[in-house]
Amino acid sequence: MKVLVIGSGGREHALCWKLVQSAGVEQVFCLPGNGGTATLERCQNVALKSDDFNAIVQFAQEQGIDLVIVGPELPLSQGISDRLQQAGLLVFGPTQAGAQIESSKAWAKALMQAAGIPTAQAQVFTDAAAAHAYVQAQGVPIVIKADGLAAGKGVTVATTLAMAKTAIDEAMSGKFGAAGRTLVIEECLVGEEVSVLALTDGQTIRPLISAQDHKRIGVGDTGPNTGGMGAYAPVPLMTPALAERVQVEILHPTLQALQARGIDYRGVLYAGLIITPSGVPKVIEFNCRFGDPEIQAILPLLETPLETLCWACAQGSLADLPPIQWRSGASACVVMAAGGYPGDYRQGDIITGLDAAAQTGAVVFHAGTRLNTAVDPPTLVTSGGRVLAVTAVGDTFDQAFDRVYGAIAQIDFADRYYRSDIGYRVR
Ligand code: AMP
Ligand code: GLY
Repeated sequence: MKVLVIGSGGREHALCWKLVQSAGVEQVFCLPGNGGTATLERCQNVALKSDDFNAIVQFAQEQGIDLVIVGPELPLSQGISDRLQQAGLLVFGPTQAGAQIESSKAWAKALMQAAGIPTAQAQVFTDAAAAHAYVQAQGVPIVIKADGLAAGKGVTVATTLAMAKTAIDEAMSGKFGAAGRTLVIEECLVGEEVSVLALTDGQTIRPLISAQDHKRIGVGDTGPNTGGMGAYAPVPLMTPALAERVQVEILHPTLQALQARGIDYRGVLYAGLIITPSGVPKVIEFNCRFGDPEIQAILPLLETPLETLCWACAQGSLADLPPIQWRSGASACVVMAAGGYPGDYRQGDIITGLDAAAQTGAVVFHAGTRLNTAVDPPTLVTSGGRVLAVTAVGDTFDQAFDRVYGAIAQIDFADRYYRSDIGYRVR
């Protein structure tokens, strides 16, 4: 199989890394890819933009691509799957209509409310005065969410009225562009967060092992939200009984609600859950793609070939596959970021120590890196906020995290930052 992966983050490096390990995969292309995908055997970066749909179609047809896997939400929300499908390509990733489950939190909330899916109570606002009045009446804590895509940064959990007021005013005055001119304001839920990434072909839906992300920048889950600072899998809290509840109360009815809207959803349905103190799983968000860094933690434990799963979803034959196979043990992933992230951060700093890190048995997925070929020999430099996602498996979480932090100690770049407490709930 020839597989084309769209995207350039740690998630895409992990997907390509997994794909090239399979005997069933002849060649992987990553478009545009990054410094990590550039180094994988049987994987080649493609210097095209992920919003240049015509060029992507032409490339895929010329190369005889058998399967396209779309990584990020942005091209999905722009309709990349629709365009590729129209050209006769097999695509893993929902259509533009399906991607609304992530690209509009108001749309997703309406779907959940109509289908009776457990979620935080919420109201939608396009008027600042009405939003302020609602927050005054509800009190704090309260959660203010930009409706549209904001790279994981459009949510404020406001613990004071002043914080809520600032969040509303900033969003409405264009901090997130059009994405923040509509707001979803919702009840603040308490409980532990779990990410359930489920695969679906539009008819059948099957969860991967669960993962837990760490969204906040600071130790002890403090400070602003990020795209995600580290993850582990599987989550002990997700017992078989709870997983069954998630399937019956959330995943299945969501798929049915999508079907009822005429949406043939093929790809990942990612349910971001809070497990409330009474044990009820509630949805805080849906995403239309693999979680980053959750998938970096999940894939090292996956034994079923990834391309078999994605192919079946794209084809509509997921029900025919045997249960997904996993190796036992634990997986840990810690993100190394550029100082300043999620605010402004430096770029172009030289990264060293990756060979020594690899000696520890950890795998270093590249998120924001670039090979600087303007110098001889070329050097690997930082090119994003989240720079690396260092991942390892072990028999226990302690073992997996010891390996990860051992590898991190070998890696250096100016002003690097990482959380030292990823996985604190399990180690
Ligand atoms: P989201 O982008 O919707 O995943 O939100 C980012 C983060 O904000 C989540 O991972 C939670 O930590 C937090 N969050 C979102 N919605 C709620 C909520 N209703 N109650 C409490 N925390 C929330
Ligand atoms: N790690 C959170 C996300 O991918 O949205």
